[in-house]
Amino acid sequence: MRFYLAPLEGVTGHVFREAYDTYFHDVDKYFTPFLSANDHLNFKTKREIGLLGFDTLGTGLGVQNATQPVLPQSHAQGAPLVPLHAPLVPLHAPLVPQILGNEADKVIALIEEIASILDVDEINLNFGCPSGTVTGKNRGAGIFKDLIAMDDFLDRLFAKMDSWGRGCGVKNDKNEPLTPSPMVHSGPRVRISLKTRIGWADEKEWEKIVRIYADYPFSEIIVHPRVRADQYSKPCRMEAFAYALSQLPQPLCYNGEIHTVEDYEKLCKLFPTLDCVMLGRGIVKNPFLISDIRRTEEARAQEGKREAETDAGTPAEQPCRTPEELKRRRDFVARLEEQYLEEMQCEEHAVMRMKEFWLYFGASFPEYDKALKAIRKAKSLSEYRLATLQIPY
Ligand SMILES: Cc1cc2nc3c(=O)[nH]c(=O)nc-3n(C[C@H](O)[C@H](O)[C@H](O)COP(=O)(O)O)c2cc1C
Repeated sequence: MRFYLAPLEGVTGHVFREAYDTYFHDVDKYFTPFLSANDHLNFKTKREIGLLGFDTLGTGLGVQNATQPVLPQSHAQGAPLVPLHAPLVPLHAPLVPQILGNEADKVIALIEEIASILDVDEINLNFGCPSGTVTGKNRGAGIFKDLIAMDDFLDRLFAKMDSWGRGCGVKNDKNEPLTPSPMVHSGPRVRISLKTRIGWADEKEWEKIVRIYADYPFSEIIVHPRVRADQYSKPCRMEAFAYALSQLPQPLCYNGEIHTVEDYEKLCKLFPTLDCVMLGRGIVKNPFLISDIRRTEEARAQEGKREAETDAGTPAEQPCRTPEELKRRRDFVARLEEQYLEEMQCEEHAVMRMKEFWLYFGASFPEYDKALKAIRKAKSLSEYRLATLQIPY
């Protein structure tokens, strides 16, 4: 199974990813929270796609990539940014920038801009964001309000990819995909993947959407099987995911409500051929989730037949954390706090970020509800730290 870390705006941004990668690094792909196709890359978004390390802020942490030495100090003094062709922050897995947009020209322009300064080979499109400010402009999940316009957008986008020598979105008059000529290559070689909900208000829309997606050479489609009206709380619609698996030719990845090893095992029972899962809040709640899953899978493989004999199998045991693991998790949380403080240069803003992190991470400690409430109410760094001291995390 491959595991991806879901983009969670305000939570799994570059500070989280870099800390997670340092202490756990067991995902196969990272995704940035969405970058709007209406904007140019600025300092913040460049940092988000991994172009700028913390040294750009003059912290002297020595961020480097596999092939380049530590950033020259001139960067730290605010010198113009030199185009760079590999991410400065050396993650253990590729980072995929995600774009939110519904106008082909603007999305293409942003892809070109990203590819002109970063060595990326995949861009992910966001067809899922349920927020009213986004859907009001027919972006994110709002794109499903007009499926003809969505099809037209994809057609234009993949036509451009073809002209760059990648993909095969354009059909010939026999409705066969055109094979891109290796000689015609005039733009960045990026693959386009998609993260999608299954409709705007009604699951019935999914059939039409799937028919449209089937025509385009997405490198992968990550399906969050909820309609926009479900937001993030209604149950995931597993039949819709099953339908996608049966109809779509592209590789598929499942996303939604996998918080525990048991959730994961149920998913695998439902979809035995599935080979890719994207995890969001589950990883923030329990950063050991992937290693817990892998450990359980190994134990299952060793138990072997015993599980096959009982229909439901034995439920996965709650792992008992070793002192090393507990220390690692504490160090991870400390690193998050340290880096938010470093980056924001403002205690109040850093505390806000940590409070958002604890919204999900705190779910692992339900018995400390008073302390969790104190974290939510903390107005200063000292109040926040005092509250966290009451939780043995
Ligand atoms: C606070 C928050 C921010 C999110 N930001 C993004 C985003 O920027 N891009 C995106 O594709 N999905 C975003 N999502 C959706 C998640 O990537 C994911 O699809 C959703 O949380 C379901 O997965 P989970 O149950 O594993 O968390 C966000 C979700 C939350 C809760």
